[in-house]
Amino acid sequence: MKENSLMDKNCKDHWEGIYKTKIPTEVGWYQADPKQSLDLIAAAGIGRTQKIIDIGGGASLLVDKLMEKGFEDVTVLDISPAALNQAKSRLGKNAQKISWIEADITGFEPDRKFDLWHDRAVFHFLTDADDRKKYVKVMNLAVAPGGHLIIATFALDGPPKCSGLEVVRYSPESLAKEIGRNFELKDAVEELHVTPSGMPQKFIYCRFKRRKG
Ligand SMILES: C[S@@+](CC[C@H](N)C(=O)[O-])C[C@H]1O[C@@H](n2cnc3c(N)ncnc32)[C@H](O)[C@@H]1O
Repeated sequence: MKENSLMDKNCKDHWEGIYKTKIPTEVGWYQADPKQSLDLIAAAGIGRTQKIIDIGGGASLLVDKLMEKGFEDVTVLDISPAALNQAKSRLGKNAQKISWIEADITGFEPDRKFDLWHDRAVFHFLTDADDRKKYVKVMNLAVAPGGHLIIATFALDGPPKCSGLEVVRYSPESLAKEIGRNFELKDAVEELHVTPSGMPQKFIYCRFKRRKG
């Protein structure tokens, strides 16, 4: 906890340091195929013109895969401009079709509503209860009524740290409690992610739907 409060002040520097010194396929969270995310996005059943935001998308290949599937309105938000630049360079000309936002999610002020909010391995870094409250507040402002939420975190028996930072590990029930009553848990699946250096990491992926009204 203490470690992250110190790190938080330099959160942006931490991530910038990583993305500036490591090649994209070297980072622990790298996935050549974000299958579990794509399966849950498919389960949400949204249309190709509906708005998707990937929170802390970093240099993830999810945006490429969403474009390949024909999604036309995709936003990637990250605290690290270096991460966003890696994704933009990889996409080349196609990068222009994506909205890129450099922001700390806990202070993000959305100017529109999204139909699907995706977060893999970002919420779990919020070890401070106030930061989690801020995140949930932003999410409530940003997700449209009837919209979807997909959040992946380390599972209860996953590693206690990610990228050298303490994390909070979740069960679907404890995550649902943090997310609050405005969202109904629809799906929960486990994934055993293996890092590029061969370390197994247990994740949970939860899909929620925003209650109407
Ligand atoms: C473990 S990586 C996961 C990246 C991506 N979601 C994936 O699955 O490949 C965490 C990402 O969250 C970003 N991040 C960390 N804290 C953040 C914050 N407070 N606001 C926005 N992005 C943040 C980092 O820059 C990094 O790209």
